[in-house]
Amino acid sequence: MPTTTSSATQAPPLPHWERTPEDLEAATREIKAAIRARIEASGRTVEEVWDAVTAQLTERVEEIEALKARGENVWPVIDYADIENGTVSPEQLAYLRKRGCLVVRGHFEREQALAWDRDIVDYVERNEFFENYRGPGDDFFGSVGSKPEIFPVYWSPAQMEARQSDRMANVQSFLNHLWTYESDGVQWFDPDRDSLYPDRIRRRPPGANSGGLGAHLDPGTLDLWMTSAYQQAFRHLFDGSVEQYDPWDASHRTTSPQYPGTTMCSVFRTFQGWTALSDMAHDQGVLHTVPIPGAMAFLMLRPLLSDVAEDDMCGTTVNQVFPAIEKWHPLLMRALSGIPDVQAGDSVWWHCDMIHSVAPVTEQQGWGNVMYIPAAPWCPRNEKYAASVRQAFLNGDSPSDFPEEHYERTWPDRFKPEQLNETGRRGLGMS
Ligand SMILES: [Fe+2]
Repeated sequence: MPTTTSSATQAPPLPHWERTPEDLEAATREIKAAIRARIEASGRTVEEVWDAVTAQLTERVEEIEALKARGENVWPVIDYADIENGTVSPEQLAYLRKRGCLVVRGHFEREQALAWDRDIVDYVERNEFFENYRGPGDDFFGSVGSKPEIFPVYWSPAQMEARQSDRMANVQSFLNHLWTYESDGVQWFDPDRDSLYPDRIRRRPPGANSGGLGAHLDPGTLDLWMTSAYQQAFRHLFDGSVEQYDPWDASHRTTSPQYPGTTMCSVFRTFQGWTALSDMAHDQGVLHTVPIPGAMAFLMLRPLLSDVAEDDMCGTTVNQVFPAIEKWHPLLMRALSGIPDVQAGDSVWWHCDMIHSVAPVTEQQGWGNVMYIPAAPWCPRNEKYAASVRQAFLNGDSPSDFPEEHYERTWPDRFKPEQLNETGRRGLGMS
């Protein structure tokens, strides 16, 4: 049975499930009815709230469509030097907040990024990774032929050097400060300390054909509607005050975990991101986003409308990524926008709630190599995961969010504890 929490207002409380409900369909019916009742207690109908959300988003979508029609770039681009020097203009900051995504030009020197790319190849070849590769540990990305595109490698010197670099810390801190991280007397996260979330590497070779990756989002699944913490984080979406919803408010987002699943992310990320290890043209199967952070209002409220079955959250369920699809989200899909051309050493970032996809490509021109490094600031949730990361680092294990492949356990030249700098030690909770 779910528990309920009464709120400070007179609005009816929401049932919540702090672990995955046993009967997902029953819980879905129950939470949808409860959210509707709570919205209606505000004096507005669900349809009125929905109309307000779509009116605001339509304006934003049309603006993005017009930019695309003129062939203009939708993604904000900021030079790393401006971030380091604190010379990002107020206009650039406002545009970044509006779009919720960013290309950092020259985040690392191009030669540095290309050297890291070569180092990673040397690292896996020296350790006979391809000879011992046992196939994909999950089907999240898939692979082409016998050589994987996604390397389940976490502890190479190249990755760790990038993760603990001053340049990475500067950009993560800059991005974290876009969020409101203090409210109600609580500091929800430390914007100037990252938790070094270890993730994989993608190396997609010239000539590759790839079906891409469908539009989805990663912050959670049914837990976004069903856990107490997310109900508080999304309180304005669920109580009829949708105009006050702020996608940059970190309140209640940094304490409780996601429902477990095979594609979960245990940490709170302000931004997902990757660093380019090769040059990539904008039409070679690159990342796209719906560059509207506030689109979460649409995604969270859409299942409440009467044309969706009572036990359906528009296809969202546990153990699968949260899908964004034409059938339920046609307005949002019109705004899907790809990154501009990037060079090795540039980095790409998008707000953790934003819809993203990877475009398909045939006969890819050039390499498509990236190192996934997000911004995952220190907070209770990330501190908890950091304890298991620290152990994985010491053992050379695959981190617990990923398939248990553990290739690097016996690799003698993985990054060593004595190579950690202060940023690295703080990120792993070792100082
Ligand atoms: Fe994703």
